[in-house]
Amino acid sequence: MKKLVVAIDGPAGAGKSTVAQLAAKELGYTYIDTGAMYRAVAWKVLQQGGEVTDEKILAVVPDIDVDLSYENGKTTVRVDGRDVTGEIRTPEVSHIVSQVAALGPVREKMVDLQRKMAERGGVLMDGRDIATNVLPGADVKIYLTASIAERANRRYKELREKGLAVDLADIEHDIAARDKADMEREISPLVQADDATLLDTTGMTIPEVVARIIGMCR
Ligand code: DC
Repeated sequence: MKKLVVAIDGPAGAGKSTVAQLAAKELGYTYIDTGAMYRAVAWKVLQQGGEVTDEKILAVVPDIDVDLSYENGKTTVRVDGRDVTGEIRTPEVSHIVSQVAALGPVREKMVDLQRKMAERGGVLMDGRDIATNVLPGADVKIYLTASIAERANRRYKELREKGLAVDLADIEHDIAARDKADMEREISPLVQADDATLLDTTGMTIPEVVARIIGMCR
């Protein structure tokens, strides 16, 4: 069977990475989590300490080495050789990542890397601008979303399971702010591509969503 290029976009907490990872495994494809790449840049900015400014973000772009590897169904993210897979999921990183991802030079560098990773096909890539900008020629395009209450609840459970003391109202507030920032930014805003299939996962189970994605790829 032809190895496809699959693009999945959608807002924060829609469950993209969970279902995309499972679908990629079932299809025997490589999963590419582009949000993790912007988080990696945000992580490095936070390492510098102090106030986060656009200047500070732009200063880390030229030399940062972001490496994404996918093996045995697991993504590992490295920044300058250091494994930061766990550290890029903290609320501190989530809080500044939209500011980081809004800057042109950051996006140019990440999009170049993303296109190179998709060259050989057999990839399932998720993000915000995959179908509209990174891979407009993708074979399958899916826009995955869910209600904001459901998305906040999912993220809350995920972080609690990791032992983090988080507040549901704070998470909902943060997700709403990220939706706004991601949808209203000037460069490559989050928008459903004209030729993408809308998949609203509110009230759906993970296996149901995975089955729908696999169905679209076969
Ligand atoms: O999917 P996520 O929450 O890990 O993404 C982190 C941030 O990165 C999100 O707020 C928007 C940004 N992002 C982006 O601008 N473009 C992408 N292709 C993926 C993520």
